[in-house]
Amino acid sequence: MTPLDPSLFKKAHSALSYSYSPYSRFPVSCCIKTASGQYYSGANVENASYSLCLCAEAVAIGHMVHEGEQKIAEIFIIGTGDALCTPCGACRQRIREFASDDALIHIGDPKGHRATFTLAELLPHSFGPHNLEQPHD
Ligand code: THU
Repeated sequence: MTPLDPSLFKKAHSALSYSYSPYSRFPVSCCIKTASGQYYSGANVENASYSLCLCAEAVAIGHMVHEGEQKIAEIFIIGTGDALCTPCGACRQRIREFASDDALIHIGDPKGHRATFTLAELLPHSFGPHNLEQPHD
């Protein structure tokens, strides 16, 4: 396997300082590397109306799409705590929209890398854009 791009961790780590997480006090950040080699980062943005909270992955994906890119090759996610900060279910589906089954999802904490999964490992048998490719009646 190709070695992990150190820029992915560095950029995800710098984004952690932008987290707005006064309610959970659980900052999360991430950095996407696209198929074309560009980087897009994001951090979670919470809201007093809790259900409006945005996950770090959603912010980074919005950032990427806004810049005209739509293909996630790898993503590095940083959170704290003993448990691995793997993406929540909704974010696995958000990543799926722009990534193939073999896209790499790296998980770390502020000290560095802890684990890597493929998207297919985290979201097997996923529903995605391919399901909607057939013509409708
Ligand atoms: N969070 C993320 O940013 N990404 C995830 O995949 C899991 C959870 C954030 C949402 C909320 O601001 C905080 O972590 C606690 O759930």
